[in-house]
Amino acid sequence: MNMVKLHDLEFEPYLDQKTIASSVKTVAERIYADYHTKTPVFLGILNGSFMFLSDLMKYYEGDCEISFTKLSSYEGTSSTKNINTLLGAGKLEGKDVIVVEDIVDTGHTLEHIIEVLKSENVASYSIASLFFKPEAYQKSLPIDYIGLEIPNRFIVGYGLDYNGLGRNLSEIYQLKSSLND
Ligand code: IMP
Ligand code: MG
Repeated sequence: MNMVKLHDLEFEPYLDQKTIASSVKTVAERIYADYHTKTPVFLGILNGSFMFLSDLMKYYEGDCEISFTKLSSYEGTSSTKNINTLLGAGKLEGKDVIVVEDIVDTGHTLEHIIEVLKSENVASYSIASLFFKPEAYQKSLPIDYIGLEIPNRFIVGYGLDYNGLGRNLSEIYQLKSSLND
């Protein structure tokens, strides 16, 4: 693995394909142990989760459905309140939903997604994230399935981007140490 430059920043190799794959496999096995009697819906949060969810599905051996969503917020015409919907998620009512995130940092995004999900009358929900930054996390919501806990560093690759670039890298890179802290 070599250094990569995205826009103005340099990133150094951090996690190789083997390490990522074994974390993804472990997450799949742990979910299967809990869900094999059900038919869960894996709900990938776009854009970051597309590669993780794709690989996760190759290791998941049970019946399941797959859906992707993007959060959208807009002003309602008859109300000044923000209305939030899970775009493209399909009907989730009565389903056992597993929210699939690429990374949980402060937890703001996730908390928001869960709030919206609760209004969909799902049968149950849990949360899977490939990466988790415990030092940055500001919420109390439990993350049920974590691939890897990482230090509070900015990473790219395997779906994760820096200003739109880097999602297609098959390995994980971190911001060059001298620039990180
Ligand atoms: P949070 O709301 O602070 O938990 O941030 C969640 C979102 O921020 C993730 O879904 C990512 O899109 C983005 N993010 C957080 N940390 C990183 C990182 O290290 N690299 C790339 N994107 C990140
Ligand atoms: Mg994201």
